[in-house]
Amino acid sequence: MNMHHEQRMGGLSSAAAQNGLLFGTAVCTSDVLAQPLTRAILRDCSIVTPEYEMKWDAVCPNPGFPDYSAADELVSFALANALAVHGHTLWWHESVPPALRTEPEKRFREAAMDHLQATVTRYAGRLHSWDVVNEPLEPADGRADSLRETPFLSAFGPGYIETAFHQASLLDPAAILVLNEMGLEYASPAAEDKRRQMLALLEREKSRGTPIACLGIQSHLTALEQPRNHPELRTFLREVRAMGLTVMITELDVSDHLCPRDRRRRDAIVADTYRAYLDLVLEETEVLAVSTWRLSDDRTWLNGFRPRPDGAPQRPLLYDRAIRRKPAWHEVEHALSKERQPGSDEAPP
Ligand code: XIL
Repeated sequence: MNMHHEQRMGGLSSAAAQNGLLFGTAVCTSDVLAQPLTRAILRDCSIVTPEYEMKWDAVCPNPGFPDYSAADELVSFALANALAVHGHTLWWHESVPPALRTEPEKRFREAAMDHLQATVTRYAGRLHSWDVVNEPLEPADGRADSLRETPFLSAFGPGYIETAFHQASLLDPAAILVLNEMGLEYASPAAEDKRRQMLALLEREKSRGTPIACLGIQSHLTALEQPRNHPELRTFLREVRAMGLTVMITELDVSDHLCPRDRRRRDAIVADTYRAYLDLVLEETEVLAVSTWRLSDDRTWLNGFRPRPDGAPQRPLLYDRAIRRKPAWHEVEHALSKERQPGSDEAPP
């Protein structure tokens, strides 16, 4: 048993390993030297995702002068600690370097392809998986195919997803290639429409031979809004599995902005949301990895993105700001270690 294995005994990654999946979290360079958080990461995780150090605008704030030093640091930290790395993300409309947003389409095409090729080549053979394209769908943009209007769509056309995946698979045939999306988890007509549009997109890409191996479901959930019983999501996950695709939970957190201020009640509701969601997803489909979007409350992006109306800091993650395990940690541990065969109880959703 190597040092890393010993270190992880009793952690979430060993619970997940009992069912053959990975457990992990998003990390930043500031996390790798931040005891006790680093200890928690090494004890609980078997995979990490750079929260922003691998994004195009982080690597290339000045087009033509890429700087991979922060991303390299995270990859070295991970590999030195026998952690797998989930690359995030090659083509995403929100991380296009500002200077390139106004460039002519030909110039944008060249820059986007150069970035993809340089980045995949740099880490080829060292990454577990890549979010090749992130957030491709936006039904509100009004297209028949529901593709989001992005610089990638304008410059490459609707074949841009196929182009990106083919390039990535050529340059790193070992990496699992993921199409990552948000808003597929919720119980709303808009989410159900997006699930339908995602299935149609996956079918289209599959018929074109696009090498998408896995669907990334971000899973930024909201406590008191995410239902325990969610037949539409069950049906969707079964249809994804029937297409021969695996799933990764890529950015799991549970916003508590609708919860009462009382910490104990808030933590209990958040913990229950984690458990119900993971039980459902792990029952219905083949999940390769479950990753939270950071591990401790002091590091969550939600205080900026979804602040509580009462101004109290969010408590959406598995550890509190003193890096103490919360009820959510225990519920996630239960869900990960529970014995199950995806799809084994094909009861009607
Ligand atoms: C977020 C980061 O957490 C924030 O710190 C940053 O300001 C914006 O991006 N979907 C994604 C992630 O795919 O990359 C986003 O991360 C959250 C939503």
